Amino acid sequence: MLPLNVKNLTFTYEGNDFPSLVDVSMKVEEGEFVLVTGPSGCGKSTLCKSFVGLVPHSYPGKMEGDVEVFGFSVKEKPVSEIATRAGLVFQDPENQLFTLSVENDVAFGPENLALPRDAIRERVDWSIGAVRIADLRHRAPFELSGGQQQRAAIASILAMKPTLMIFDEPTAFLDPASAKSLFELIYSLKKELGITVVLVEHRLDMVAALASRVVVLDGGRVVLDGDPREVLSNKVLERIGVGAPAATRLCMRLRERGFGLEAPISVEEAAKEILKVLGGTSLGRDRG
Ligand SMILES: Nc1ncnc2c1ncn2[C@@H]1O[C@H](COP(=O)(O)OP(=O)(O)OP(=O)(O)O)[C@@H](O)[C@H]1O
Ligand SMILES: [Mg+2]
Repeated sequence: MLPLNVKNLTFTYEGNDFPSLVDVSMKVEEGEFVLVTGPSGCGKSTLCKSFVGLVPHSYPGKMEGDVEVFGFSVKEKPVSEIATRAGLVFQDPENQLFTLSVENDVAFGPENLALPRDAIRERVDWSIGAVRIADLRHRAPFELSGGQQQRAAIASILAMKPTLMIFDEPTAFLDPASAKSLFELIYSLKKELGITVVLVEHRLDMVAALASRVVVLDGGRVVLDGDPREVLSNKVLERIGVGAPAATRLCMRLRERGFGLEAPISVEEAAKEILKVLGGTSLGRDRG
């Protein structure tokens, strides 16, 4: 069963006279790490909300097409039930934290599932351990750093044991070092727990190397979907105002000048490509 199967989804928020998503189709297979990007206002958050049923249940509007999560239509299941299969982490952790202790915030979801006390405790222990904040369990979320708050928010979602996790620009309020550490956490959660990940992000320099696939939206439509190296070296990105990773852009410029380089997605890959070209020169031999 596919974690996610979006079928010709068109969505217009109530009160708007324009659609925020237009005929979007995309599939996410089990174990994928899909990076979704696109210019501001292109519909990324609306799409994320549709993956967990917030669109259309909490944000009404006109919905055509469908979103299937593990085979069922989000239109036909309540948000609370979808949350046990697919979890959404927002930009702003304050959206997800509202009690006076990390532990209570993380317990909130499992409590709503009416699980026995032992099972709730077990889930809380497991979730805060998974995001490496076990030592913060009694702290008030508002006292924590932005990075710690985001980990607590992730733990509160993990406690529902979803096997699909969606992150909507989870590092928007974090400095580069905390952002890097959060992306590393997301990647390790994916590997350790075997979950499927959809990450919405525009800091492509930091995340391109994590993705198994990249989907680009523009004006509510999917304009590119495929292998990260192919998508990120596509000229369409520049036209729609999406900044490809600097390493990719550098090698594309050199390719335009006639150098036989492959498109890299990281500085390490770019270095390899450039050294390959320099290989025949004295500069390359010295470095070799
Ligand atoms: N709750 C809402 N009610 C009405 N219109 C909305 C609502 N949320 C978003 N929109 C509109 O839908 C379009 C897509 O917005 P969305 O937030 O999904 O884009 P985005 O790609 O996530 O943007 P950003 O990069 O700024 O986060 C925009 O035109 C926006 O104004
Ligand atoms: Mg958004």
